[in-house]
Amino acid sequence: MKKKRVLTGIRPTGPLHLGHYVGALENWLALQQEYECLFLIADYQALGDHAEDTEGIQRSVLDVALDWLSIGLDPSQNLFVIQSNVVEHAELALLLSMITPLARLQRNPTLKSESERVEQAASGLSVGFFTYPVSQIADILLPKADLVPVGEDQLPHIEMAREIARKFNRQYAEVFPEPKALTGRVPRLVGTDNRGKMSKSLNNCIFLKDSAETVNQIVRRMYTDPTRLRATDPGHVEGNPVFEYHDAFNDNKEEVQELKTRYEKGRVGDVEVKESLAKALNHFLDPIRTRRAYFEEHHDDVLEALRDGTRRAKVIAESTMEEVRSAMGINSYTG
Ligand code: TRP
Repeated sequence: MKKKRVLTGIRPTGPLHLGHYVGALENWLALQQEYECLFLIADYQALGDHAEDTEGIQRSVLDVALDWLSIGLDPSQNLFVIQSNVVEHAELALLLSMITPLARLQRNPTLKSESERVEQAASGLSVGFFTYPVSQIADILLPKADLVPVGEDQLPHIEMAREIARKFNRQYAEVFPEPKALTGRVPRLVGTDNRGKMSKSLNNCIFLKDSAETVNQIVRRMYTDPTRLRATDPGHVEGNPVFEYHDAFNDNKEEVQELKTRYEKGRVGDVEVKESLAKALNHFLDPIRTRRAYFEEHHDDVLEALRDGTRRAKVIAESTMEEVRSAMGINSYTG
């Protein structure tokens, strides 16, 4: 039986962090045997608000691929795809933009809050940024994906993808399945400073590529219960990022439970709780570091993963676009 398909992606704008892992990447790993997965490095989409930094995007394309290989995504079974190298992404985005109501785009809550932020930035809000959800819908529909594992903030885009797929099928011909979304175990991992979710722009991240030393340092300075002045004061576990990370990454559940109990009774210092967290995080990150060290030495494997996946995605894209053009009555006059 033919495997069902996953398409998901990431904008190449920086290194991946723990929030990406529990919010999405972990699901990608779990799905990669059962589905044929296309993992997209969305460099067109990154241009939307980084058009002045094309070099940074190109560097990030390789960094993202390295992050993916480091966590154990397997390019022999799945496809690593560079969006700009499958130009059909742009063609389908253009065609789908014709059947996407502007008012529907304007109502998209994720786009709304992001555009407000981008509008404040030096280069302002570009048309390309404002229409990126349409491009993302094209990403998903181009390989006829059945499932899209993403972070929670992406759900409005998947909902739109379902609507546009339905509309296309009704209006022209039955071409696209309606993709389903799948969100991760921890939809919003808080940042180390408790100011909001972990994100590069807030500078409150632990990156998958951070060394043990860096992790120790960050954890030592992490935000914790501000009402607690001494180790003998009863502490709060709820809403405390140190314990949120323990819950998310420490697989010794007994230790976590025991620390929580002592914390609430004022029988353990923050230093001890943080030391055991740093240890758990490094235990989690160690195998990722080992694989990264391998691929840093085998750079050709990284390039080959990208070339091979992108070529295979191109074949899939060409076949869908033939169907799309024929459904929409777009004829070729050049043979
Ligand atoms: N918008 C996604 C992000 O910022 C990246 C992305 C691009 C994507 N195309 C996609 C995600 C298609 C899922 C499906 O992380």
